Amino acid sequence: MMENIKIREALAEDAEQIIAYTKLVGGETENLTFGESGFPITLEQEEKFLKHVHDDKTSVHLIACKNGEIIGNGSLSGLPRRMSHRAELGLTVKKDYWNLGIGSMLMKKLIEYAKENGIEIINLEVRNDNLNAIHLYEKFGFKHIGTSPAYIKINGYYADFELMYLDLR
Ligand SMILES: CC(C)(COP(=O)(O)OP(=O)(O)OC[C@H]1O[C@@H](n2cnc3c(N)ncnc32)[C@H](O)[C@@H]1OP(=O)(O)O)[C@@H](O)C(=O)NCCC(=O)NCCS
Repeated sequence: MMENIKIREALAEDAEQIIAYTKLVGGETENLTFGESGFPITLEQEEKFLKHVHDDKTSVHLIACKNGEIIGNGSLSGLPRRMSHRAELGLTVKKDYWNLGIGSMLMKKLIEYAKENGIEIINLEVRNDNLNAIHLYEKFGFKHIGTSPAYIKINGYYADFELMYLDLR
């Protein structure tokens, strides 16, 4: 299962596969802020976005690939102005590959990137019953800030999210 898995930065040429991957993982879980429709973004917008992320030191988009197929992604999105010391983290792994350490591999590389590029605080939001994700974040030293009630609404059901952060100062 773990043979031939490579983690690399996403490039503009990966845009089409990333759009398809986002819809796939959105449909596999109710833990994310999006579902099977993914994001309303065109191929051109996604390509432009990936180029911007590549050029921006406070942002990065990593993908885990197995034999050319995307099976995981991890991102840091830098914030502007007086928040430019902080970045927001996103992490997903394709369901067939959960609990094999791929999320941890991506997280390790994101933290390395943050340290090398002067990101001081990593923030994230995670559904509070998403125990494997919370376990992973705590394992890497993330601390709980508090709970944001009714953070997402799915078919009339409200789910609370934990706000967490990692202080790299
Ligand atoms: C959260 C997610 C990224 C984790 O990826 P992954 O590749 O499965 O992560 P890993 O295998 O590296 O680590 C999972 C950890 O959770 C643990 N775990 C699994 N089920 C658990 C549970 N019910 N309670 C506590 N810990 C659990 C595993 O033992 C492992 O910990 P370990 O490394 O100490 O053994 C993946 O499950 C996912 O994509 N989920 C859907 C999207 C999502 O929720 N993303 C996070 C949004 S904030």
